[in-house]
Amino acid sequence: MDKRPIGVFDSGLGGLTAVRRLQELLPGEDIVYFGDTGRVPYGTRSRDTILRYADEDCRLLLAHDVKFIIAACGTVSSVAQNILANLPVPAIGVVEPTAAEAAAATKNGKIGIIGTAATVRSASFEKALLAINPALQITATPCPMFVPLVENGWISPEDEVATLTVRRYLATIKAAGVDTLILGCTHFPLLAPIIAQELGSGVTLIDSGYETARLCVRLLDETEKLSPNKIGSSRYYVSDQPEGFSQVAEIFLGHSVKQEVEMVHPTAK
Ligand code: DGL
Repeated sequence: MDKRPIGVFDSGLGGLTAVRRLQELLPGEDIVYFGDTGRVPYGTRSRDTILRYADEDCRLLLAHDVKFIIAACGTVSSVAQNILANLPVPAIGVVEPTAAEAAAATKNGKIGIIGTAATVRSASFEKALLAINPALQITATPCPMFVPLVENGWISPEDEVATLTVRRYLATIKAAGVDTLILGCTHFPLLAPIIAQELGSGVTLIDSGYETARLCVRLLDETEKLSPNKIGSSRYYVSDQPEGFSQVAEIFLGHSVKQEVEMVHPTAK
């Protein structure tokens, strides 16, 4: 048993989709979340910049004595595997658990992937999927504009801008006839109602935050690192003003976090 917190990070709010699932699955765990809101988005940046940010984010969480790290960011998970593999505590990203679920879910063998530009460029999800089943047919599309829509809370199926943006980005995926779509960026589950409306009920959406939270639960259980506590607490750190974060975080988490959000600055080596 291990009472230390689980550390979760993302470029901004998206990783909260994983936190929400963790809070549901493991209510006894303490969670430390870092959202790099001062530097979001990561997905449009160069590999070197993403690596530097990922390194600093992990260091920030390690300073909170976390027992496990989740990179709840498709971009970091796709680009910075080496950093995650060389930390003093176990760490996972979203690619492998999400790819495994998608490969199991598809019936027609056609899978779509949407993510940030950096994620799609890295081909991380494709590689993971083809390693499971080389016969899969994959269509991948970057959807960079989804991130600011979500960060600003423009996620209602009644929102014309969000609906048109989703339609435009998903045209190729729709034409490819996929029956399974990987939401390869942790921001995207917030747009799931609009995406489902656009693609129809025949397409299964795979939520990368959820699948990664489930893998974390399994790994902590297998290594006997679950907390013995019954009620855990969560603290949230951001690198820009907490107010904006708290407002939209409520939509992600389904409860208010005003009291628990603090501003910090990730530091370089
Ligand atoms: N949540 C991040 C991801 O999963 C993306 C947002 C960004 O571009 O920073 O890729």
